[in-house]
Amino acid sequence: MSKIFISNWKMNPQSFSEAEELLKSALKFKASNIKIVLCPPFVWLRDLILKSKNKIEFGAQNMFFEEKGAFTGEISYKMLKNIGVKYVILGHSERRNIFGEINEMISKKVFAAISNNLVPILCVGENLNIRKKGKKIFEKFVLSQLEFSLGKLIQNKIFNKEIIIAYEPVWAISGSGLGIADTPENAKNMISLIKNFLFKNGFKKFLVLYGGSLNSSNVLNFFSQKEIDGGLVGSASVNPDEFSKMIQILNKGLKNK
Ligand code: 13P
Repeated sequence: MSKIFISNWKMNPQSFSEAEELLKSALKFKASNIKIVLCPPFVWLRDLILKSKNKIEFGAQNMFFEEKGAFTGEISYKMLKNIGVKYVILGHSERRNIFGEINEMISKKVFAAISNNLVPILCVGENLNIRKKGKKIFEKFVLSQLEFSLGKLIQNKIFNKEIIIAYEPVWAISGSGLGIADTPENAKNMISLIKNFLFKNGFKKFLVLYGGSLNSSNVLNFFSQKEIDGGLVGSASVNPDEFSKMIQILNKGLKNK
């Protein structure tokens, strides 16, 4: 199965013409071995989807768990579905830490996404303080984030729908963390642990990705681990040259595996 490269543009770029440039770089690889998903800011989503003419898939970076109503500033799953979005990033550490999102809220979002046929990309990962407490502690922390963020799916026994988990150690993220990638070894172990948790709880269709300072010099080291189903990539993927370089490296490097 081909690996998945999800590009989280975060709050970038600032103009639609730059967004179009990024779309163009991605469309060059539509026949690639790597599946590419683009997650632009809400304001660019609809026009990029129309421009892409179904040649690439899109995700949003967040959504609210209600369909409509008096929720100033929010975007509903129904709105995303109606413009052709397929994926939605939920529980990103930047939302947890800056906007106070908690597992209980994220669990409602994951449930609402799945119930409306959007594929959630649920982010989990420890911060530096927890990481420093040692392997047993940070592993336990990530599993508890997972358990609570998937709480409503587990309670309602929804195990047959596609879900994506991104293991993103908070400290490894560039911009909001230290910007130092984790080791492929730790990412691989954490991803095995997460897969084991999902399997034991009854989930049947899942992919588990790594995210945090992926770039053209390290991306192949992560993607070539068989346990790692792909990556959630931030800053390096909003630079068209670096984005193209990463996809080229992956296409070449993974073919030779
Ligand atoms: P960077 O690739 O910029 O470290 O961001 C990772 C991330 O947060 C993706 O969601």
